[in-house]
Amino acid sequence: MALLRNDPAPLGTVLLLPGDGIGPEVMGEVRRIMDWFAKRQGISFETDEDLVGGTSFDRHGTPLTDTVMAKAQAADAVLFGAVGGPRYDDLPFEQKPERGLLRLRKELGLFANLRPAKVFDALVDSSSLKPELVRGLDIMILRELTGGIYFGEPRGIETLPDGQRRGINTQVYTTSEIVRVAKVGFELARQRDRRVCSVEKANVMESGVLWREEVQKLRDAEYPDVELMHMYADNCAMQLVRQPKQFDVIVTDNLFGDLLSDCAAMLTGSLGMLPSASLGAPGPDGRRKALYEPVHGSAPDIAGRGQANPIAMLQSFSMMLRYSFDQGAAADLLDQAIGRVLTGGLRTADIMQDGMARVSTSTMGEAIVRELDKAAS
Ligand code: IPM
Ligand code: MG
Repeated sequence: MALLRNDPAPLGTVLLLPGDGIGPEVMGEVRRIMDWFAKRQGISFETDEDLVGGTSFDRHGTPLTDTVMAKAQAADAVLFGAVGGPRYDDLPFEQKPERGLLRLRKELGLFANLRPAKVFDALVDSSSLKPELVRGLDIMILRELTGGIYFGEPRGIETLPDGQRRGINTQVYTTSEIVRVAKVGFELARQRDRRVCSVEKANVMESGVLWREEVQKLRDAEYPDVELMHMYADNCAMQLVRQPKQFDVIVTDNLFGDLLSDCAAMLTGSLGMLPSASLGAPGPDGRRKALYEPVHGSAPDIAGRGQANPIAMLQSFSMMLRYSFDQGAAADLLDQAIGRVLTGGLRTADIMQDGMARVSTSTMGEAIVRELDKAAS
């Protein structure tokens, strides 16, 4: 099966940005898996590594230097850990670690954020919902990532003549921003159960009215084979915890997608289980700019203790294999190895259950490599 090649030609360039908190720990496990794929499957990448977030601020006074931005522009894919921490809470807005991530998303044009929430059989009891509600759950949240209130102008904090202060953010979407992300949603649905639920608040927001109209128009014109329904975001939050299996693909804006994907993550047992892919428009060579990151944050409370769950980060790597390098078989191999390790009873602290074996970040990574070895031998 596995060919042993000594010097495989790299499939492309990958920039590793481990970031802050548990980012470096979970990225360490990606490196372990990358080594395995290079040695055992001849699937290798040219890699570079750099700073982002608080660690970049500490060294350079900015959460993302222009040099690192240029490296990200040049790479075929970026693997991102996590950013943020209490030490940086009081920094001015532009210097906060999160701005590094937002700049990457914006300048790379990563408008489509895929957040698949899939429940491993072994983890049905880790979810805060009843097992029958989440067993077999497989939904895709598609979040618009470069528009909406995250980037809308005007924004800021101003002082009014009467001395009060006023904070302003703007929710804004254009037709093309809505249509391009909705297209990705319909295309994804065609590879799945052909159902899209578009989520906004058209009952109170004009941008939501536009969102709803444009998504419906696109469906009628180009995707009549896909079933489309519309849902208000508050109702969607409720439905996600009431009957999550009713959904196939959820398409929504930047802010609602942020909230709903955290909610969906818990259905899978832990935030430590949710990967994501952020994709741009295809370039002249057909390739999309792409960044892969776990949905969990930097978890400063457990950073440096070897307790973090590396699975969301490893599944993000698996999404990179699939979406950036067309290595679906390798991605399946990794996903299945993760599933078997969970079935075997190993758990990091966040998904720990009675009768299971609690293990560290690196023990989890080593166990996944052992399963890969078994599958490939
Ligand atoms: C996410 C995170 C980010 C966001 C933060 C870290 C800026 O919560 O990716 O969901 O709000 O988009
Ligand atoms: Mg979030």
